[in-house]
Amino acid sequence: MKITIIGAGYVGLVSSACFAELGNHVVCVERDALRVAQLQSGEVPLHEPGLQELVARNLAAGRLAFATDVALGVRHAQVLFIAVGTPMAADGSADLTQVLEVAHAVGRHVSRFLVVANKSTVPVGTAQRVHDAIAQGLAARQLARVPAFAVASNPEFLKEGAAVEDFMRPDRVVIGVPEGRAGERAAGLLRRAYAPFNRNRERMVVMDVKSAELAKYAANALLATKISFMNDMAALADAVGADIEQVRRGIGSDRRIGYDFIYAGLGYGGSCFPKDVAALCHTARGAGQRLRVVEAVQAVNDAQAGRFVQRLLQHFGGSLAGRVIALWGLTFKPGTDDVREAPSRILVRRLVAAGARVQAHDPLVHSLEQLMAGDPPARRARLAPHVAFCAGPLQAAQGADALVIATEWKIYRSPDFAALRRALRAPVIFDGRNLFDPAELGRQGFFYQGVGRGQ
Ligand code: UGA
Repeated sequence: MKITIIGAGYVGLVSSACFAELGNHVVCVERDALRVAQLQSGEVPLHEPGLQELVARNLAAGRLAFATDVALGVRHAQVLFIAVGTPMAADGSADLTQVLEVAHAVGRHVSRFLVVANKSTVPVGTAQRVHDAIAQGLAARQLARVPAFAVASNPEFLKEGAAVEDFMRPDRVVIGVPEGRAGERAAGLLRRAYAPFNRNRERMVVMDVKSAELAKYAANALLATKISFMNDMAALADAVGADIEQVRRGIGSDRRIGYDFIYAGLGYGGSCFPKDVAALCHTARGAGQRLRVVEAVQAVNDAQAGRFVQRLLQHFGGSLAGRVIALWGLTFKPGTDDVREAPSRILVRRLVAAGARVQAHDPLVHSLEQLMAGDPPARRARLAPHVAFCAGPLQAAQGADALVIATEWKIYRSPDFAALRRALRAPVIFDGRNLFDPAELGRQGFFYQGVGRGQ
């Protein structure tokens, strides 16, 4: 099939490479010319396991091409996927500027039946707006024969760090199509595009467009709910002297609950959960329907990293003036170089504000520019004298008054505790990811605090 993907972010790029790998002819359109040039030479500007190889192989095979020209992409496609950014606007809503720009371009250039499928996470009702924008563009052209089109919703459920695997082995493929002839044709073409995943069992879940749009948010909000629930429960565990890790083990084996997404920690980060939860609350309020559970999920998450710092401050009598804090892990989760909405950003700001000097280590983040990308340069400049980036975990711990763990990278899971104790000025660990057994760390001579470990 001939497929166009608009956007070479991580969703667009992974989808492009994977659809090409399945034998389709894929054009991936990206407005950033520099990024396109990089990609054309086989260089993948983001860290995603397996992606580099897929891009190189399919470029070489001539099944994958990159371009900046949307018109070319529209003319190429039988199915065009929109995978552009939908950043959070100041009021918590999703900013649809880029999505609608694509719709206008489709209206200007489409010349035969086209399925426009939205992969970007967009509020309920967006497909209709995309439809209207395309129709408007077509009307302005005053064509003798107006090509038919359908706008479908095809939300993605890819996890960063496992996106290729998630794409190639989906739990389900959600497709929302409009009623009528164009919708049926769209469902047919999308079924064809995803047919390779349907061999063993039916993975396509076809529904109306609005339900598909809401399903995406409902999935992320429910996962976020599990996390905030556990973080709330962790606060109670601390208050009553229970251990949230034991609680987790005690509930996860119930298949209705499951072991996934019940780890207490520093709160969820990344480019999806915080933005999607906020956008869902915004959509609900706009529809006159407050989502009280999801609003509470957001409130718990917003407070989580701060609560952790508060306990560290308490330990040091309220001030970190003259203290050195080692910080292990900066990305929002392991296996990615993404620091968007990472709790570590809050930690760094709060620790420095409390007077500390931070010695940070992360396998993939090596500078303040990387860590604080998107922040005002003035803020970065204020932090710069107080934050050092170290080559290894032990170097970061050298001379520090405490070690803080913010991301559960594998290399932090079994440190040489004797060497760590020697490196630290005081054997104090504040673990935001509950990597260790408190009793064992006590035996090793550490003062150890996790999240919800009953201290
Ligand atoms: C998430 C979803 O898992 C994907 O299904 C979805 O497609 C994607 O958002 C999206 O909407 O694009 P992702 O943001 O890559 O994927 O990250 P997750 O692995 O889901 O982790 C999210 C955050 O939750 C991380 O900060 C992680 O540390 C935190 N988390 C996760 C916990 O604090 N506890 C847990 O038990 C699990």
